[in-house]
Amino acid sequence: MINAKLLQLVVDASNDGIVVAEREGDDHILIYANPAFERLTGYAVDDILYQDCRFLQGDDRDQPGLTAIRQALRNQQACRQIVRNYRKDGTPFWNELSISPVFNDNDQLTYYIGIQKDVTEQVEAQQRLQALEAELAALRAEQSKT
Ligand SMILES: Cc1cc2nc3c(=O)[nH]c(=O)nc-3n(C[C@H](O)[C@H](O)[C@H](O)COP(=O)(O)O)c2cc1C
Repeated sequence: MINAKLLQLVVDASNDGIVVAEREGDDHILIYANPAFERLTGYAVDDILYQDCRFLQGDDRDQPGLTAIRQALRNQQACRQIVRNYRKDGTPFWNELSISPVFNDNDQLTYYIGIQKDVTEQVEAQQRLQALEAELAALRAEQSKT
């Protein structure tokens, strides 16, 4: 087992965001966020502690990924979803979010760990590909008429 200091070093060195949250009523409030989370979102840890991460969604709350996250949290299950988030300066990014419940030895739910990965380039490339495929299909359909 590695010691707590080494674990802290490892988590701080991660290139992906890592946060820990605990449940408080209907919220899951942040009690830890690593430096990569600060770099990714533009928020300083001290400004977002004890808040639910939904502030990263702004007004963009009608997303299929969020429905899946809500259901997983309700069932105390792990989930991985891609959601649209917004940095402190308002710029959007695609966040591949992995959330896992953490249970103690008595099988009691104690915390959640969340890992945030910026997948903006991949999602935008996929969207361009889909648009091109749709254009190609439309052209082919047009050609087959002549
Ligand atoms: C550990 C953890 C990390 C989370 N990280 C994010 C995040 O980075 N971005 C995000 O949009 N939602 C994140 N969420 C999800 C929101 O906190 C919230 O659960 C989600 O918006 C669904 O609940 P709501 O409908 O009450 O907002 C995270 C949740 C947990 C438990």
